[in-house]
Amino acid sequence: ENLDLLRSELLAWYRSAARDLPWRRTRDPYAIWISEVLLQQTQVVTGTAYYLRFLEAFPTVQDLAAAPQQAVLKAWEGCGYYARARNLHRAAQEVVVRGMPTTYEGWLALPGVGPYTAAAVASIAFAEPRAVVDGNVRRVLGRLHAELQPSSAWLQARADALLERAAPGDWNQAVMELGATVCTPKKPACTACPLRAHCAAYASGMPERYPAPKAR
Ligand code: ADE
Repeated sequence: ENLDLLRSELLAWYRSAARDLPWRRTRDPYAIWISEVLLQQTQVVTGTAYYLRFLEAFPTVQDLAAAPQQAVLKAWEGCGYYARARNLHRAAQEVVVRGMPTTYEGWLALPGVGPYTAAAVASIAFAEPRAVVDGNVRRVLGRLHAELQPSSAWLQARADALLERAAPGDWNQAVMELGATVCTPKKPACTACPLRAHCAAYASGMPERYPAPKAR
């Protein structure tokens, strides 16, 4: 295993090939937080439209906290999962009183913020070395190691071991970006993949088979 090479190859790919998405042009933790909550439930294309609309309605966490709940739910319309909007609103009110968290643990303590969102915001906005695990990360890591049924403990351990600690925000987004654009569920574009030489699923000749759909 040549982890340093793998890391530099994926980061170089991300920095040259990543989509230009609006939340990648900001360092504002509030905006990054909104983007990650939205992207948990919608694809990037749809999520981008909602992100721009929501930030236009509530440009700062103070604006969100001060808004009536009805206005927040209205701006969330079309995104579904209204509990997320209500939690976002309550969390904004806490942030205004106590200050914006700057650490993973601090984010995790806010209403509606789970390990995924806390790791995403802490790494992207604060450069804290925390590895995210979502569906894209599960597929990329499952394929790299040709794991059919990666457990969540195994995934978190692999993600932690692989994390580029010098650039955790770019790293996390690079793994998600690879999963979204190259290492896709069906017909992955292995010939365009910067990690092909490291990938056990590719070596098997049947990359699509890994990992098996999540048992539920
Ligand atoms: N999915 C969730 N967060 C993402 C991000 N920051 N970039 C790309 N895909 C994502």
